[in-house]
Amino acid sequence: MKICCIGAGYVGGPTMAMIAKQCPDIAVHVVDLNQARIDAWNSDALPVYEPGLDEVVREARGRNLTFSTRVDQAIDEADMVFISVNTPTKTFGIGAGRAANLEFVEKCARQIARNAKSHKIVVEKSTLPVRTAEAVKRILSSEGNGVTFDVLSNPEFLAEGTAVDDLLHPDRVLIGGESKEAIESLCRVYASWIPREKILTTNLWSSELSKLTANAFLAQRVSSINAISALCEATGADVDEVARAIGTDSRIGPKFLKASVGFGGSCFQKDILNLVYLCEHFGLREVAAYWEQVVMMNDYQKRRFSERIVKTMFNTVSDKKIGVWGFAFKKDTNDTRESAAIYVCRDLLRERARLAIYDPRVSVEQIRADLCYACADRNGQVCGTDRDLIENNITVVDDCYAAADQAHAIAVLTEWDEFKQVDFAKVHDAMHRPAFVFDGRNLLDREAMESIGFELHSIGKSR
Ligand code: NAD
Ligand code: UGA
Repeated sequence: MKICCIGAGYVGGPTMAMIAKQCPDIAVHVVDLNQARIDAWNSDALPVYEPGLDEVVREARGRNLTFSTRVDQAIDEADMVFISVNTPTKTFGIGAGRAANLEFVEKCARQIARNAKSHKIVVEKSTLPVRTAEAVKRILSSEGNGVTFDVLSNPEFLAEGTAVDDLLHPDRVLIGGESKEAIESLCRVYASWIPREKILTTNLWSSELSKLTANAFLAQRVSSINAISALCEATGADVDEVARAIGTDSRIGPKFLKASVGFGGSCFQKDILNLVYLCEHFGLREVAAYWEQVVMMNDYQKRRFSERIVKTMFNTVSDKKIGVWGFAFKKDTNDTRESAAIYVCRDLLRERARLAIYDPRVSVEQIRADLCYACADRNGQVCGTDRDLIENNITVVDDCYAAADQAHAIAVLTEWDEFKQVDFAKVHDAMHRPAFVFDGRNLLDREAMESIGFELHSIGKSR
């Protein structure tokens, strides 16, 4: 059996590496248009940082795992073609700001139709609006060259930072489709290492919709606890204690109840907005408004955090140095897409703060590019003032100590483990007084920090 995967990103790369590792008799060819990304997959510096991923790739690459830009050839040779390309929120035209941009998926389908000379199973791995498979099927059959296709939906549920473990031991694998034979072919691939009872099969539309729904439910939990964190700050309740108290109820459960500066990542916001758009499309205004609130609450949480910093620091951060610890959207990833840090830093910059940013995995180029994107207007233009601020008021430094040196405050925006190992007495010595710490991840111990002399402000805790 030969598998081709179009899209060598955060999902395509790790997912295919795991299939290749677990199924040595399947030849897996991952293709992408982006030559630099493919070169990185073929090097020792993989384009995606994930704990344990290097070992998985090293075991299979060169044996039955190949990365290249030969898209047409890979399609032609494969029995099964995964579509794992990006499906970002549309930024233009109908549905701008909400609907998923399906341009890349459609291009893949057309390319598969053009290059297929024998029957193919086409697998939707990208997250897609419900009923996309209908369009994919029509496009595939539009070439009219007699080749037949089966379309399956096989959404991915891995989380970044734990991708390898999630792929090794998933809670479930979901396969939606019409043809029993095609479903069974894909089941057999996963059954090489995943117990059969964890492989769920459904119809196409349930599978497509389950992916959007899972992300909406997860994000909703974060927004729910973040909403309560605001009330905690106003009343003296402690959000971590509330989370523990409600999480022990087996009907609620303890996971995904960590209050934070706001959820980030490439998918939660995009997928919920897509769900909102779909509901509106089907005339379900109340349902759309219900889910949209999850994103609005997240925006409120990010804004509330930067406003709290300004308010606490005597209503001005102008010309004050703020050390920013962490820029990735969560620990153990180099991904910054929709990271709360981007928006908090943008707001602080616009208050004229000087930011010294440290993240163990994110490059200076990425940080500047993200801030430019966040400052851009609808036409993608960044005004002169914002450009000057990004240029002059940001330094990207090599460790926590450099970020804190001569700083008026520290903002913890990602929960990297190494931030807990810092010598806080040394940090305190190097800072101005009062030495403010704004802990956007509730990572730091209040008693220990206060005994050193810090003024600690955490999420969902009044002082
Ligand atoms: P990504 O942007 O990291 O990677 C997508 C890749 O597809 C890019 O490298 C791009 O160059 C390539 N591509 C686009 N069009 C192409 C074409 N026509 N031919 C060849 N290559 C093409 O995206 P990602 O994070 O891997 O996400 C992919 C999909 O998986 C999305 O739908 C996303 O919602 C979903 N998803 C992502 C995650 C995650 O953790 N990132 C988890 C589950 C599901
Ligand atoms: C999420 C889902 O967990 C995956 O199942 C899904 O496959 C993926 O989206 C996707 O479709 O892209 P991911 O975004 O990688 O995975 O990471 P999460 O662990 O879900 O965290 C998302 C954001 O929520 C992070 O910013 C994280 O810090 C935040 N979060 C998470 C909280 O603030 N509190 C929590 O309790 C949990």
